Amino acid sequence: MKQLIKICTLLGAIATAAPLMGQPAADATDKRVSEILSRMTLAEKIGQMTQAERKFATPEDVKKYYLGSILNGGGSFPGNNTRAEWVEMIDAYQDAATSTPAGIPLIYGTDAVHGHSNVRGATIFPHNVAIGATRNPKLAREIGAATASEVAASGVHWTFAPTLCVARDDRWGRAYECFGESPQLVGTLGRAYVEGLQGGPLDSANIRHNKLVATAKHWVADGGTIYGTGDEGYEIDRGDTRLDAAELERIHIAPYVPALKAGVGAVMVSYSSVNGTKMHEHKALLTDKLKGELGFDGITISDWAALEEIPADTNRERVVRAVNAGLDMIMEPENWRDFISDLTAAVKAGEVPMARIDDAVSRILATKLRAGLFDAPMAPLSSADGVDSPIGNPEHRALARQAVRESQVLLKNEAGLLPLKKNARIFVAGDHADNIGLQSGGWTIEWQGKRGAITDGTTILEGIRSLARGQVTYNAAGEGAAGHDVAIVVVGEEPYAEGFGDYRPAPCEKCQPLTLSEPQRQMLARVKESGTPTVLVVISGRPLLIADEIASAQAVVAAWLPGSEGAGVADVLFGDYGPKGKLPVTWPRSLQQVPINIGDTNYAPLFPFGFGLTYQ
Ligand code: GLC
Repeated sequence: MKQLIKICTLLGAIATAAPLMGQPAADATDKRVSEILSRMTLAEKIGQMTQAERKFATPEDVKKYYLGSILNGGGSFPGNNTRAEWVEMIDAYQDAATSTPAGIPLIYGTDAVHGHSNVRGATIFPHNVAIGATRNPKLAREIGAATASEVAASGVHWTFAPTLCVARDDRWGRAYECFGESPQLVGTLGRAYVEGLQGGPLDSANIRHNKLVATAKHWVADGGTIYGTGDEGYEIDRGDTRLDAAELERIHIAPYVPALKAGVGAVMVSYSSVNGTKMHEHKALLTDKLKGELGFDGITISDWAALEEIPADTNRERVVRAVNAGLDMIMEPENWRDFISDLTAAVKAGEVPMARIDDAVSRILATKLRAGLFDAPMAPLSSADGVDSPIGNPEHRALARQAVRESQVLLKNEAGLLPLKKNARIFVAGDHADNIGLQSGGWTIEWQGKRGAITDGTTILEGIRSLARGQVTYNAAGEGAAGHDVAIVVVGEEPYAEGFGDYRPAPCEKCQPLTLSEPQRQMLARVKESGTPTVLVVISGRPLLIADEIASAQAVVAAWLPGSEGAGVADVLFGDYGPKGKLPVTWPRSLQQVPINIGDTNYAPLFPFGFGLTYQ
């Protein structure tokens, strides 16, 4: 396979002036790919390069246009979101794909970015920033494996995870999707996560064994953009990263190398730009660097309708520039027919060399072969209802609770207020104390996430109640704290995803001020007025600008976005497990310090990268 890829890439490169590369030994996959490719029409080849969204393509469309892939966007699920309905949906697409003349199986992708987070009842693991706080690659690998098991049980073959962004600016709405601000930390945990999802290099992925094709995203430097350069009304998301080659390599490219060495099957390209060039048309970084120098032989896939953001007069021009730059599969959720017709016309007009098309299709075919899709296209029998489902099973929930525990970062603990005594009179306040939607954050059931009992699991308050042996009083507004031994006040952010989470000072329609809301401030003031010693628990995807609130609390825990197993926070508050988390990102004193990262000159944050107290 690698040999054929190299040849096609080489031909494609000669056609587009890419460098010469070595020639590894051919293998069985190579031969099968070239045999299949030789029988394919142009329409079948371009169909394989097309990924549509489930709401905008039917199995009949898959058959008619030879579509190579279907995805669901965040919050897009079949029927009542049961496992049987997922299996039924994907098998219907697969039936259509394998009934075409070439019989090439379809690959179905989803954003299982912290568990199978579209599916109600699935285990929701802490978001990546929390995994970064654990510093535990073994745990990351186990989370990848558990996630793969739940996702594959629903018939899905491919996840658009892990995100290998390096979070350099807390004002970015996707900072929580990164394992942290350190390239080394991101690289180590990213590799482990890929190994868990795929079970190793793709040849061993074999969907029948409940593994997935993983995706390193978003190539490259999505976390390094400059505030104020954001796209489409965003402040920093999809903006421009401005770095010289050495810094780009050190900070944003380096974390991909371990994942590439682990054999990650796909790389998703970033909406953002590098030094003014959109990544979706950046041939030097897509073909010469990623595929040439780094030897990536999997699939590059575009982001959601990202070609539309390439500055060109016509869609056909955007398609030509993206495919010639090195995009292999195009995620064109709704307007996929336009993509097919524009690329077809461009190939016929010689604007895109056939060698580039053959390189892209070879990569797609090889990925499907190596993932076992040709051998086992239909969902594993165990995916049908009535057989033990791994979705949300107790072992996975226990693993998620362990991840919650290990990710808690103790920032302050005056007079040994923590751990709590189990027979203490405990007062609990804050909406975030009793709300699975708030503690899970974005990319949970809905794209943007949302408040409420949106899925199964335990809230922080339920965890406290299950461990306490004395009185526990809950009042979301913070009324009635007097007379208790300790108050646990849980504050934090509303759920958000992507640019909607970008920093925006009040007043604005959907503000993300990085500070507490006015109702939370009033709730805190009520508890403070009671004179009750206070533990502040912060539910957020990033450090918040709350130096004053931290100063007035006796103890502070950064709990991040723990997901469905909120009880893990209580495990640490009561000392059943000591806090071991270390900050994966620098915690600034004020907005004036942002962006601030380890290694900066004049580095004087509120809490440094790597900070975290213990009970000893
Ligand atoms: C989104 C995100 C990307 C995700 C894709 C599919 O816009 O940028 O991370 O995988 O679309 O949902």
